[in-house]
Amino acid sequence: MSEIKFFSGNQNIQNKTIILRLDLNVPLNKKKIQDNSRILMSLPFIKQLIKKKAKIIIISHLGRPKGVKNSELSLTPIYRFLKELLDTNVYFFIGDLNKETKNKFEYLKEGEVILLENIRFFKEENENNDNFAKKLASLGDIYINDAFSCSHRKQASIHKITKYMKESYGGPLLKKEVASINTIIEGKKEPVTCIIGGSKISTKINVITNLIKKTNNIIIVGAMANNFLNYKGFKIGQSLVEESSKNIIQNIYAEAKKYDCNIFIPEDYNVSTNFEGSGKTKKKDNVSEDEIILDIGPNTINKIETIIDQSNTILWNGPAGYFENKNFLVGTLAIARKISSNTENKSLISIIGGGDTISAINSSNDKLSFTHLSTAGGAFLEYLEGKDLPGLSVLK
Ligand code: 3PG
Repeated sequence: MSEIKFFSGNQNIQNKTIILRLDLNVPLNKKKIQDNSRILMSLPFIKQLIKKKAKIIIISHLGRPKGVKNSELSLTPIYRFLKELLDTNVYFFIGDLNKETKNKFEYLKEGEVILLENIRFFKEENENNDNFAKKLASLGDIYINDAFSCSHRKQASIHKITKYMKESYGGPLLKKEVASINTIIEGKKEPVTCIIGGSKISTKINVITNLIKKTNNIIIVGAMANNFLNYKGFKIGQSLVEESSKNIIQNIYAEAKKYDCNIFIPEDYNVSTNFEGSGKTKKKDNVSEDEIILDIGPNTINKIETIIDQSNTILWNGPAGYFENKNFLVGTLAIARKISSNTENKSLISIIGGGDTISAINSSNDKLSFTHLSTAGGAFLEYLEGKDLPGLSVLK
């Protein structure tokens, strides 16, 4: 981490145009922001740049539009929110970045901000396209990546852009994330338990396989656990499973045996016939054909709490249930409360990561404390794995 070049607050940036890559990928429902944590966390740095009279061009993605414009994934709600929060002129650019970029934002004055529309509306972003990166770079003088949570993506506004910038730095939020995670990795105390939730096992397979070598317990929750239950032959009704996950899981169990890592999967659940339902508890083999597993059940919560009590370090990414419906938030909150109280009272080292995990936790009014709360999901897991993230290596 010492090699990453970080932006120094002492630099004179008056009248300089800063290209600031943020992660404003926040959950929306009917174009309303459901959790604004990522925006609020980015705010102090934007304000600092405004105060220093820089001209600020903010780039972010929202969701995965794959190069196709989609009004559901427009950054408009985020723009409106930023406009409310910032005491300066804030503009929104929805035009074509592929057209001539020279002098594009000439109207931007010192201390003003422009937010570009979802950068993933351009297919060149995902492709890490050289020409597109060059055009983006031509918009400003200094590039700052303050989106640790996107730094595992080899995409134009994270990676290739730096090739064409004279100066590229990591921002303060990125610095804090990297420093905190490093401190925890270095100081981690066994037993180490990793709790992994969320839905897609195929996107987390490498992470799980690598973490097996470094942790004592892996707890699988969320829709991802369905694949394990299915593999073990338990009935899962209409619950989400991924095709061809059997080989992946077979391999995970083989690796876990080799490295003496205990894999724990749910033993009872909260189910419903639809996502809007109220839920009822079902034992492992009692799920009916028309039911969907939407949360972990009380026995599973008890067992997970016991494992947390026996652990000295906890890494957690991904909610335990369909948290968008409060009836299925119970498991996630129980885990959060236990980790928080052990962090406060038993010096448990805890890192919690991921946009969904943070949203889920924030939907309760509890005051919870963790050693580090990371805005990052995938990036956080890949960093824990020990990978050199493409967005960080270009800042070195
Ligand atoms: C995240 O939510 O983890 C980041 O915004 C990255 O999003 P992505 O997984 O779609 O690249």
